[in-house]
Amino acid sequence: VSERLIPVVFQPSGKTVSVPSGTNLFSLMTELGLTHSATCGGKGKCGKCKVKVETGVEAINASTESELKHLLPQEIGQGYRLACAISVPPVPSFTVRTSSIRQGKLKLQTEGALVSISPDPAVRKYVIRLIDSDLPAEEMLLALLKRKYALSCQMDYEVLTMLPAAIERGKGFVTCVVYQGNTVIAVEPGDTGRDCLGFAADIGTTKVAVYLMDLNSGKELSFSAAPNPQAIYGDDVMSRIAFSMAREGNTLILQKILLKEVAHLVRDCCTKARLKPRSIYEGCFVGNPCMMHLLLGFSPRSLAFFPYKSVSHHSVTLKARELPVRLHVHPAGRIFTLPLIAGFVGADTVAALIAVRQNKPHGVQMLLDIGTNTEVVLSDEKGFMACSCASGPAFEGMHITHGRKADSASIEKVSVDPETLEVTFQTIDGAKPAGICGSGIASAIAELLRVGVIGTNGKIRGELSRKTHRVRKVRENFFEFVLAWKHETDIGYDITVSQKDVLEVQKAKAAIYTGCTLLMRQKGITADQVQSMTIAGAFGQHVDKASVRAIGMFPDVPLDRIKEAGNAAGTGAKMALISRQKREEAAHVARSTKYYELALDEDFTREYATSMLFPRQPSPMINSVEEKVESKNAHR
Ligand code: FES
Repeated sequence: VSERLIPVVFQPSGKTVSVPSGTNLFSLMTELGLTHSATCGGKGKCGKCKVKVETGVEAINASTESELKHLLPQEIGQGYRLACAISVPPVPSFTVRTSSIRQGKLKLQTEGALVSISPDPAVRKYVIRLIDSDLPAEEMLLALLKRKYALSCQMDYEVLTMLPAAIERGKGFVTCVVYQGNTVIAVEPGDTGRDCLGFAADIGTTKVAVYLMDLNSGKELSFSAAPNPQAIYGDDVMSRIAFSMAREGNTLILQKILLKEVAHLVRDCCTKARLKPRSIYEGCFVGNPCMMHLLLGFSPRSLAFFPYKSVSHHSVTLKARELPVRLHVHPAGRIFTLPLIAGFVGADTVAALIAVRQNKPHGVQMLLDIGTNTEVVLSDEKGFMACSCASGPAFEGMHITHGRKADSASIEKVSVDPETLEVTFQTIDGAKPAGICGSGIASAIAELLRVGVIGTNGKIRGELSRKTHRVRKVRENFFEFVLAWKHETDIGYDITVSQKDVLEVQKAKAAIYTGCTLLMRQKGITADQVQSMTIAGAFGQHVDKASVRAIGMFPDVPLDRIKEAGNAAGTGAKMALISRQKREEAAHVARSTKYYELALDEDFTREYATSMLFPRQPSPMINSVEEKVESKNAHR
């Protein structure tokens, strides 16, 4: 990096900053908040930091290997580059055009089933009428708690320091805040019994959701959600683990950036509900094992290597002030995490289990939480068995040519006319499309399979390029299908499904199908014995069940037994926050779930290879399609 300052102009906003030549463009854009879509943290893997260099292109470094992989030759010819692969050159002025894609509002799936359980929170408030007594203040309060509420408590040291002032200001009354029925964690002047809040937080790899709850009534008061800010260090858990291992101090960076977002969301929840964060006495956290490690400041290193052990499987309780970032809750506030099942099956799965079993505690049930890792839990009267499938991020819209996370400009549903092969698509909020999200790619492939554009082996039938302009050749033996023409999109170029995209979906669905099948085999259960299959997570909420079954993602469980649970992990976190009995249930579920390591199953490779094929379609339409398209084209 030289000291010569170069003005860098970002179009279309015209924003200009001067930086030393040699500054990496991606780092600069990250500082300026211009890298929303990038998901690999500048490692050249996601291809989502594409920019068009308008002036100064001749002075920048030659195309790198990652650019050659992610950009088409004609794009490179037009000045397109990956921001993470180039540095600001020593030119009089450097102008780049960032994506014209409107940054759609991320669809952060936060809604789950309603919580309808009687509140029995860990934090309760007890109002005490003070009496004249010769006893020291501590003994007097503890004696009154015992006499009036039958509680045998001890008092935190910090409480003693606040006692005299609370008694003096309380004018005859104080409110004791009691944790787990045995520890007084705060004493407040007067009667503050009504203000007793807690929050539940679901820490996902992609999103963070916080729910503000009234601990007295068990009611949800407000919620707030945001993308997980750690995403700039990598879109999946493995890249975040790699970042945390790269340098001492990186785990702390990941922990702090996450906690700052949680603090922000908690504040936002309080603003929405017009309540004070100081009335929050407990936060209950769930998330996958990596997120829980990073939240608590544990090194996630052991999660990356066989036997993929976590630092601790147990739930952890700590004081909020012990965290390296202030959460703006009550100074005596506690933080509680639900337990994990195994190195790849975390507190989010435990929470989802207690939520979905709430309404139907018996019978053979299967829970799938679909994400970059898909957790499958199969339960029957003999107990729970869980596995984790490396399904990859295709169903989160990543590793797909025009994939994007679910937002207002994402195609979520596709239908293809079997006669003309013309396409109708639907975006999440009816906006012009800028890409396709996970449920959209599943829907598109199910349709292409149904009408015969894709065969059971996943090949796009190149011969159709002679019959429809939607199927076109990219290079030898490599075809793509055009879902939306450039004039229909918000990005100025066609949105397509490529052969590579089909392969990504095949790998993802094969991983999930294999996990379900091997787990069922272990328990001696067949698909028709599964009484209920619950799909948790954002993917489940938007996807058409018939589409995913058509591509062979699940075993043949009847469609009417498949249901979506929304954000079941968030619902479970809320339940655990307001009910100690649910915490015990979570501890029981975590302890009694047997983890099944798929990679050690001798049938795994064979099963996975077979599952790569798409199911045969009930009535192949290709012949009629070919004829009809041929006759339509003849009239062009
Ligand atoms: S490829 Fe540049 S940030 Fe991912």
